[in-house]
Amino acid sequence: NTYCVIMAGGIGSRFWPISREETPKQFLDILGTGRTLIQQTFDRFKPICSTKNFLVVTSIEYKQMVLDQLPDLAPEQVLTEPFRRNTAPCIAYANAWIKKRDPEASVVVTPADHLILKQDEFVKVISKGLDFVTDNNSLLTLGIKPHRPETGYGYIQVADKSANILGEIEPVKTFTEKPNLELAKVFFESGEFFWNSGIFIWSIRTAEAAFNTYLPDVKLLFDSIEDKINTKDEEAAIKNIYLECDNISIDYGIMEKAGNVCVLTADFGWSDLGTWSSLYEHSNKDEHGNAINTGKVLTYDAKNCVINLPGDKMAVIQGLEDFIIAESKNCLLICPKDNEQQIRQFSADLISEF
Ligand code: GDD
Ligand code: MG
Repeated sequence: NTYCVIMAGGIGSRFWPISREETPKQFLDILGTGRTLIQQTFDRFKPICSTKNFLVVTSIEYKQMVLDQLPDLAPEQVLTEPFRRNTAPCIAYANAWIKKRDPEASVVVTPADHLILKQDEFVKVISKGLDFVTDNNSLLTLGIKPHRPETGYGYIQVADKSANILGEIEPVKTFTEKPNLELAKVFFESGEFFWNSGIFIWSIRTAEAAFNTYLPDVKLLFDSIEDKINTKDEEAAIKNIYLECDNISIDYGIMEKAGNVCVLTADFGWSDLGTWSSLYEHSNKDEHGNAINTGKVLTYDAKNCVINLPGDKMAVIQGLEDFIIAESKNCLLICPKDNEQQIRQFSADLISEF
């Protein structure tokens, strides 16, 4: 059986002001498509996984939001975390849940907030990966051809650098999570590296073995939850586990260390929508290059702006070029796209000032 684990506990802080602690970007329709990012993620995996085999792992305060946005899921399919401990504990919790139902399961683990443009290709790639892990004890990740020396991603080096490997599954030589800019440039220019898409495929057995070897403390903590799942004791037990659990991502905790990592290189129009510029890149634009995703907006002499306003907000934008204009609740941001890396700081400053 195939299970799909949607990791949905992050806060998307670079997308302030529309992504906020109360409503992180996975719960927003930032592209104005009529479906939020987590809804699009669910839609994307529906041809691959039956509805009862989806799991969403998220913070306790987002549980109701998940159930409202994904009404096909039963409440027990939403696993809730009392604190953020990054993706390794999130995956360990989901593993325990799945193992209890089906120790032979294959699992796809996916972020909740990515964009995938080529759905048919995506389904083909995931199906190929799932086939592969049924008879290989590999931790399979999906690799994307990089197009800039981005420092926010994991970099995957393939063992056989000579092959034209798009669409192939290859053993991984090295996995480097979030290199500094200098190293990212070396990786990018060498042409031997792929970006880690953050989507993983493995059998529950292989994942368990990897946790045993590389994160034994995390594994031990979550082993104790198995017989409490779906009982009245689950919430209290999970709270204790999370209090004791390390804060560590699957990338640092397992993918960088394991020797049985393979990569399936793919091109399915992937973007992690990590920044305003990446949203701009993937939005529909008018003839002046303005991406008006949400809001009722008139522009005059405005070029290449990305605009996300509340749906019923009317605005006139005149004379701005390459700007981000975004409003949510009581916060408004007007900032050149080039300065988007400072947005985290801006929002922190605003909170401390008022
Ligand atoms: N449940 C839960 N709990 N989910 C979490 C937590 C947590 O504590 N922390 C993060 N997530 C979710 C996020 O909501 C997101 O959907 C996903 O896990 C990945 O977390 P990010 O925080 O967005 O990771 P990242 O972008 O820094 O890096 C990862 O993704 C890159 C590609 O976008 C890594 O896997 C990189 O190697 C990869 O290149
Ligand atoms: Mg991310």
